[in-house]
Order: sequence, then structure tokens, then C-alpha cells
Amino acid sequence: NCPESNKLLFHFHIFSKDGVFLQEIQGSLKQVQKLLSSHEASYMQSLRNLKKKINLLLSSAARQNTKAINSTCPKLESLINGRKLGKSHSIGHEVHFLCDPGYELVGSESRVCQESLTWSGQQPTCRDINECASSPCLNGGTCVDEVNQFSCVCAKGWAGVTCQTAAASTLPAATTGPYVRPSRCTIVQGTTHCTCEPGYTISGRDSYTCTDIDECELFHNGQAGRLCLHACVNTPGGYRCSCPAGYNVTRDGRSCKDIDECATRQNNCTKDQMCINTYGGFQCVRVDCPKIPNATYVKTSPMRCERNPCPVDNKACSQAPNSFSYHYLAVVSNLSAPRVMFRVSALRPIGDTLRFSLLGGRPVRRHFTVQRSDRLTGELMLASPVQGPATLEAEVEMSELERRVQLGKYITKVTMFVSQYEF
Ligand SMILES: *[C@@H]1O[C@H](CO)[C@@H](O)[C@H](O)[C@H]1NC(C)=O
Ligand SMILES: *[C@@H]1O[C@H](CO)[C@@H](O)[C@H](O)[C@H]1NC(C)=O
Ligand SMILES: *[C@@H]1O[C@H](CO)[C@@H](O)[C@H](O)[C@H]1NC(C)=O
Ligand SMILES: *[C@@H]1O[C@H](CO)[C@@H](O)[C@H](O)[C@H]1NC(C)=O
Ligand SMILES: *[C@@H]1O[C@H](CO)[C@@H](O)[C@H](O)[C@H]1NC(C)=O
Repeated sequence: NCPESNKLLFHFHIFSKDGVFLQEIQGSLKQVQKLLSSHEASYMQSLRNLKKKINLLLSSAARQNTKAINSTCPKLESLINGRKLGKSHSIGHEVHFLCDPGYELVGSESRVCQESLTWSGQQPTCRDINECASSPCLNGGTCVDEVNQFSCVCAKGWAGVTCQTAAASTLPAATTGPYVRPSRCTIVQGTTHCTCEPGYTISGRDSYTCTDIDECELFHNGQAGRLCLHACVNTPGGYRCSCPAGYNVTRDGRSCKDIDECATRQNNCTKDQMCINTYGGFQCVRVDCPKIPNATYVKTSPMRCERNPCPVDNKACSQAPNSFSYHYLAVVSNLSAPRVMFRVSALRPIGDTLRFSLLGGRPVRRHFTVQRSDRLTGELMLASPVQGPATLEAEVEMSELERRVQLGKYITKVTMFVSQYEF
């Protein structure tokens, strides 16, 4: 079945045609045949060897391959209250573990990534060192272990960091409770260091008691301003600001912001009333047109009344104001003065003169004045600060004249709701 040997046989066949060396040729052929079978055997052997080698190579390559993908040990958990040193997780590398001060290591101090892709040893943990182990609290005191320190809860009649001294019989009444806390003390080489939580301070006489700092008292009218716009409430370890009803504490926790009851439906004004938001509250108002003999008024807008046309020759009617407008102002208490509170203007004057005046008696004149700011405008001025809570009303009359004859007059009623507070 070997094509090479067929060629050889054919070659010899040509020779045999001569018939002379037949016997010789037969011997030669037998030898060649032998040679060929031995060649064939060795050829097959080397083929088998080659196959084996290739298989070996293949399987070793496969092994190399898996190793390359997964030649690191699994990630190690990080250490709570400690640190892991060494980032490499590949075979042969070592990782070390250290605990924070106040903790001791339990488990393997270091771990090696092994050929099996597992870590040697055990995952360590950091255990709080028991500072109480040496029984540092004397005279029946109970030791409380804390991170890197301890504190003693002394038996009755004893005091001090390690309950080493007999307590004075006249301790302040409040030695416990939210405003008094035990201090945290550490003994380092025989020296005691005591500290307090934020908002507490070591009280004068003993270093083992922390008392609350009254921030409201301490920073009352301080240089940086008051802590709170309204009221300061001291709390254990801190303080908070509070606001009167009708206000919310602002985001920064120090100021007060008026709640708009009219916008938030927190008012009980009826349908025919208008809700006026004031500082710290609200007012329900209702505009009723005035009753004046011989003149009738109709509401032309929620805050305006206009006179109906007058019968001819009815002097009482034609001398009554042409209109009443109503305005409501909400202001804070003790508003600085003088200042303009309201302006009244004539839009389309028909006469040659406009006159502005303040109506009402003494109570009104104590707080208000009216002045002209330009030809068409009058101003209602607040003359002096008003302390709230108060409600003030002022009426400004604007008269229109032509050659000293009155053509019409217009009343503006301003109601000012002064809050109780200056905010
Ligand atoms: C190979 O790594 C994966 C994660 O990368 C892991 O889940 C798996 O156990 C590892 N296999 C071996 C044999 O280590
Ligand atoms: C004001 O505070 C009250 C609770 O005191 C709260 O219900 C309300 O939503 C607050 N209003 C605003 C505008 O923050
Ligand atoms: C509206 O509520 C106030 C309290 O917020 C109360 O004093 C007043 O009587 C109430 N008025 C009516 C009409 O219900
Ligand atoms: C008021 O009206 C009545 C009747 O309409 C009239 O008799 C009277 O004179 C009027 N008063 C004045 C002051 O004009
Ligand atoms: C009113 O404000 C002034 C400063 O603007 C202040 O000096 C005065 O004490 C305040 N009055 C009251 C009653 O708060």
C-alpha cells in the first residue's frame, strides 16, 4: 500500500525482461522487501512517537492556559479595625495584617498565595484589647472596656478615674442625667488624660465629670451675633433654635421664616373673605362698600368700590367720594422710619390740580404723614416705628380740582398689620 515500493517493483520488472539475472533479482527483491518492512515499522514507530509528543504538548499547553487565567488567589477580606499590607494576590506572594491601636490580631499574621491558588493560614480578625483585663478600677468599681481606653463606674462613695478617692459627701446634686456625663480617661505612663464628648466640658473641680456647655448662655449676644433669631434652647451636648407659632425654623437652623397660611390652606377664612398673610399669622378680611347718604356704591373688584352715577342736582351724592380702594400691608414690628408705605397716583387726571391729604384723627397722625412725590403721586409715609402686634389704618384722599372747583375725590384705605416680632 506504499506508493514508493510500487515504483521500485516496476523498476525491477523492466530488468526481468532480459531473463538473465532472474535468480539474482529474486534475492535482491527479497532483501528490498525486508528493508521496506523495517522502514515501514520504524516509520510507524516515529509517527506514533510524534503523535504522543503532540498530545503531551497539547495537554501541557492547556494546563498553562488555565494557569494563566487563574494564577491568583481569591481576594482576601479586608480587616475590620486593621489593615492589610500587600496587594499582589499571585502565587508566592505574601499578605500581612496589622491591627489598629487598641486591637490585637487573632489568626494568621501573614498569608501566602499557594500553588493550589489558596491562601495559607487563617483569615485573621482584630479584637478589641481588653483594657479592663488588669482590673484597673479600685474599691469595687466596675470597669467599662472601650476602644484603646477604659472607664470606671465607681461604687457609691468613691470617685476618680480609677475610683481611687473617697467621694466628697457634697457632690453636686446632678451627677448623672443628660447634662452631666462621665469623662473618658486614659492613663498613659502614669498620667491621666480626660476628655469630654463634644458639647461638654470638664467641670471646675473634678476631671472625671463632664458638664454640658450652655451654648445659649455662652454665646448670648456674642460678637458673632446671636445664635438664634428668636429663642435658643439648650440641649444635652448642643442647642437648637426655636421660633414662635406661625414661623418655621429656617434651613440653617438659626432663623425663623414666616409660614404663608394663605398659600398653604392653614387658614379658616370663609369664601367671601380674603386671606391676608401676615408675619406670624394671617387675617381674614372682607371688603364692604361704605354706606353714605344719597350715594350708592358697587364693588367693581374685590378691593374696590365705585359710586353709582348721581341723580342730577343731588349735591350730597356728587360730593361723596367717587371710589374707595382697599389695601392691606403686612409689616414686622419696629420697622425703621421714616419710610414710604404706599403710593397713590392719578392715572388720567382731568383737572388742573391734584391734592393729597391724610384723613383721620390723632392716632393716625402719630404714625403717618402724606406727602407729594411728583405732580401725580402722593406718598403715605410711616413717620415713626410701630411696636407690634398692632393694626393701623390710614386713609389717603386724593382730590381732583379745576380752577379750585372739586371734580372728584378718591379714597385709598390702607390697613397695616404689624406683627409681634421684628421678623
Ligand atoms: C478561578 O477564579 C475564579 C474567580 O476569579 C474563582 O471563582 C475560581 O474558584 C478560581 N478557580 C480556581 C481553580 O482557583
Ligand atoms: C413648617 O413646619 C411644619 C412643622 O412644624 C411643617 O409641617 C411644614 O411643612 C413647614 N412648612 C414649611 C414651608 O417648611
Ligand atoms: C379661625 O381660627 C382661629 C385660630 O387659628 C380662631 O381663633 C378663630 O376663631 C377661627 N375663626 C373662625 C371663623 O372659625
Ligand atoms: C338726598 O336725596 C334726597 C332724595 O333723593 C333729597 O331730597 C335730598 O335733598 C338729598 N340730600 C342732599 C344733601 O342733597
Ligand atoms: C427697635 O429697633 C431699634 C433699632 O432699629 C432698636 O434700637 C430698638 O431697641 C428696637 N425697639 C424695640 C422695642 O425692640
